[in-house]
Amino acid sequence: MLDIIQELNQSPGKMLTAGVIGVGMAGSRFVEAIQYLQKNAPESIKLSWVCDINAKALQKQADKGIPAYDDYKKALTDAPVDCIFACVNDVYHFDILQYIKDSNIPFRRIISEKPLTDTAERSQIVASRYNNQDISLNYVMRYSPIVADFLKFKHQHGLQITRAEYQWWKDRVNDPRTTPGVKSEACHPLELIIYMAGLEPTAKNPTPYKVKQVGGIYTDYAIDGDDIMGEVHATLNINNGVTVSGSASFITKDKRRLVTLWATDKRGNKYRANFNFDDPGQDDDSLTITRLGPKRQIVFKNSYHQADLPKGLGGNSRIVRFIG
Ligand SMILES: NC(=O)c1ccc[n+]([C@@H]2O[C@H](COP(=O)([O-])OP(=O)(O)OC[C@H]3O[C@@H](n4cnc5c(N)ncnc54)[C@H](O)[C@@H]3O)[C@@H](O)[C@H]2O)c1
Repeated sequence: MLDIIQELNQSPGKMLTAGVIGVGMAGSRFVEAIQYLQKNAPESIKLSWVCDINAKALQKQADKGIPAYDDYKKALTDAPVDCIFACVNDVYHFDILQYIKDSNIPFRRIISEKPLTDTAERSQIVASRYNNQDISLNYVMRYSPIVADFLKFKHQHGLQITRAEYQWWKDRVNDPRTTPGVKSEACHPLELIIYMAGLEPTAKNPTPYKVKQVGGIYTDYAIDGDDIMGEVHATLNINNGVTVSGSASFITKDKRRLVTLWATDKRGNKYRANFNFDDPGQDDDSLTITRLGPKRQIVFKNSYHQADLPKGLGGNSRIVRFIG
């Protein structure tokens, strides 16, 4: 897995330029991550501008001395960049992706927040217009060090995943941010499990899974009063028979980001891997792997803490690893 800067393989002395569209919660994190890299890995990437239609959000960035635009069309035309970070709300991703193609805006990589768009139909249109390597999606949980730990253990022990389960909950009741609902959250654990099972989507096989069952509940938890999906339970099938199931919610009081994987090694030993992300805070991740059987034994245990990260990295470490 290469990060974006590595993949774009800059020549010495030439750094990538970046523009961030949408500097709300997610976009501000990207701004901080790019600025962290700008400071700690000079010659890697440079923030050329930010853009937002919300004057308050834009002013916050402009106050730091970053060139600020209130119209992404103008920003992309006046000051083209290598890396376009699309961090607007899910429902607006499509407009930006369409505009870039329709107007032949030059770029080397679009880094889009997940999900790619808010509907399957729109995502299919985007997929038909772009090459696979044009867009990187910010499925950022992949960049947790506990995922790297698990993949190393899986490789060393020749593990085959046999079952996966997830619980991915947060409280977005009365949250003012525009959202298409909890599908925007459910995609995180599903993508992560598919990735850890070694099933990267490709142009030939864009969906390396089968959806078996999905049940969701629409409620009016959003601040604008419309009913949108607040909870969803999904069951998928991967690797011709491995069941992945779990729930995602935008309406629970507690935040929970749990994944459990069951696996078997070549000798038939059975394991259970418990992942706990962002508990209690962002970047506080832990992994426990237990060998099952009559005598259970913890065979791997590791945890990472935001407090141990270098200054300026806390809360953004996964994004920094994703970019560079
Ligand atoms: N990868 C992750 O872990 C993660 C975490 C949080 C959010 N997200 C994703 O990030 C995206 C943004 O979510 P958020 O929580 O930051 O929302 P937000 O509402 O805090 O921020 C979105 C920003 O985009 C701006 N915007 C909307 N339309 C625009 C336009 N046409 N031009 C310029 N700016 C525009 C809004 O004014 C707002 O400031 C969503 O797709 C969300 O799913 C991802």
